[in-house]
Amino acid sequence: MIAIRNLKKSFENKTVLRDVNLDIYDGEKLVIIGRSGCGKSVLLKHIVNLMQPDNGYILVDNIAIKRVGQKDLFHLRKQFGFLFQSAALFDSMTVVENIALPLVEHTDMTLKEINEKVAEKLELVGLPGVEYLKPAELSGGMKKRVGLARAIIMDPKYILYDEPTTGLDPIMAANIDKLIIELSEKLNVTSIVVTHDMQSVAKVADRVVMLHNGKIIFSGSIDELYATDNKVVNQFVTANAEGPIQPKPVTY
Ligand SMILES: Nc1ncnc2c1ncn2[C@@H]1O[C@H](COP(=O)(O)OP(=O)(O)O)[C@@H](O)[C@H]1O
Ligand SMILES: [Mg+2]
Repeated sequence: MIAIRNLKKSFENKTVLRDVNLDIYDGEKLVIIGRSGCGKSVLLKHIVNLMQPDNGYILVDNIAIKRVGQKDLFHLRKQFGFLFQSAALFDSMTVVENIALPLVEHTDMTLKEINEKVAEKLELVGLPGVEYLKPAELSGGMKKRVGLARAIIMDPKYILYDEPTTGLDPIMAANIDKLIIELSEKLNVTSIVVTHDMQSVAKVADRVVMLHNGKIIFSGSIDELYATDNKVVNQFVTANAEGPIQPKPVTY
């Protein structure tokens, strides 16, 4: 479990995270929404220790990440797979080289073992057999999948997705949503998804939280999100609902 307590972060004189308190439970698919520029990416970067807070702290399975020494830092990082907003692949490297990077740097696996593991992850993200292509030869949706294969290469416990469907057409976006749900089930991971795509929210979220003015101002189910009378939340939901919200299927 991840426990975020009184997290504060400012840049120069601009306060981004004012006082963030949030528990993230094992196995859940948590979606974080909030206006552009409100600090969603900054929050994700704190969770994976790419940024450090001015104040407050984060516990990962009861261990305070800012107290983790250099020796244990890799063990901590290894638990997190991060899908960056831009897939952040190295253009000069092939798909297999991009995905294998952490294995080459941090394990003593043989080349054969590495290739097998990469093939397994590519299969999982629905993209088998593309090992020797370069990023330039891939579509936007394929790049996301390769980024995701890299994010899960060390068998993380938590997968963080930063705007995974932004810039994709609706069909590709729906495929990525499906993949997030599939991976959550197959790999038994905790998923933390930042998005402003309400179609995605409705499909993926076990729970939704909204970040606004540097604080979490809402936490609840999709039904609670639609039903809340919080004006800021209502405004966000209405403004970001592209197309009609799909009604839930009726079960008898
Ligand atoms: N490394 C940084 N240095 C200075 N300002 C930053 C940095 N990273 C983010 N910010 C600022 O923090 C605010 C929140 O950014 P971000 O978390 O990227 O927003 P979003 O919710 O769209 O992901 C923005 O005003 C951004 O300019
Ligand atoms: Mg962002």
